[in-house]
Amino acid sequence: MIAVMGATGQVGRQIVESLLAQGRPVRAIGRNPKALAELAEAGAEIAAGDAGDAGFLAEAFRGADVVHTLQPYNPASSDFRGEQARLGEAIVTAVQKSGVRRVVVLSSLGADLPEGTGFIAASLHAQEQRLGRLTGVDLLLLRPTLFLESILAGLPFVEAMGVNADAVDPDVPVPMIATKDVAAAAVDALLSDEWHGVEVRELLGARDYTYSEATRILGAAIGRPDLQYVRLPDEDMIGALMEAGFSPDTAALHVEMGRALSNGIIVRPGGRTPANTTPTRFEDVVSELLPTPSEAS
Ligand SMILES: NC(=O)c1ccc[n+]([C@@H]2O[C@H](COP(=O)([O-])OP(=O)(O)OC[C@H]3O[C@@H](n4cnc5c(N)ncnc54)[C@H](OP(=O)(O)O)[C@@H]3O)[C@@H](O)[C@H]2O)c1
Repeated sequence: MIAVMGATGQVGRQIVESLLAQGRPVRAIGRNPKALAELAEAGAEIAAGDAGDAGFLAEAFRGADVVHTLQPYNPASSDFRGEQARLGEAIVTAVQKSGVRRVVVLSSLGADLPEGTGFIAASLHAQEQRLGRLTGVDLLLLRPTLFLESILAGLPFVEAMGVNADAVDPDVPVPMIATKDVAAAAVDALLSDEWHGVEVRELLGARDYTYSEATRILGAAIGRPDLQYVRLPDEDMIGALMEAGFSPDTAALHVEMGRALSNGIIVRPGGRTPANTTPTRFEDVVSELLPTPSEAS
């Protein structure tokens, strides 16, 4: 049995679907029973509950040969670090209580750094440290770079303001990855018995993109070839994020992460290699997820 947290999310759903397609027994763990019902119909066992409830999670993990964990993320949280600590402790307790011995962890590039990376330090660095306390458990820390789908999350802003905007320098190359490639790497790890102790796998996507370049690709896909990218001043970016539902706390963490990406702090020491490069390009993601301009009009 393979237990998958975040099974109704971007990465988790693709993990569950891939495992089911390969005939593997899967327990899909999420919060919303209605969202999980579709995965039950596809053949998964389901477990619905709050990830902050260690008792629920321990039952959901029990009997699994390997589990996939992630830190659920709530942009409206007024105390992001506190909430992440509560969820992260529940996951560690649940692994201990359930007796599970192998854990594939959805973390992030830059999670080795203790500070200065916004969400990454506040959530994923801290969680890697917590999980590191476990004894007798093999951990595979998957550290993907920024998800390409995050660029698409800016579309409502593009529609409202006529430009794409974020907190990252327009001309700094940033590695970006499609969630389908993250899920594929997670599936490989979940089905492999070739990792032991604590192992780290960084995933850098097909190539680096500057935000200006990613915006040109996005613009072409939505029929706005002249779409521009602007790096907003920190205060303006925080205001825009708060209008979109972020708390002041999470908006500030987003801007700090943008600064870290702009300053090149979040890097893989050994650079890009065939092992950390994955196939899917941004062009592939937009053509799969967005209607072509003629379909949209
Ligand atoms: N975005 C990036 O660029 C990036 C890059 C590297 C790493 N990451 C990491 O990737 C992770 C997010 O992965 P994703 O994008 O696949 O997630 P996602 O699409 O946001 O989905 C989150 C999943 O967790 C579930 N969930 C949320 N809150 C929960 C709670 N309190 N209890 C139980 N389940 C809960 C959701 O269930 P519901 O459907 O019921 O809400 C959903 O299944 C985060 O830890 C993030 O830090 C992100």
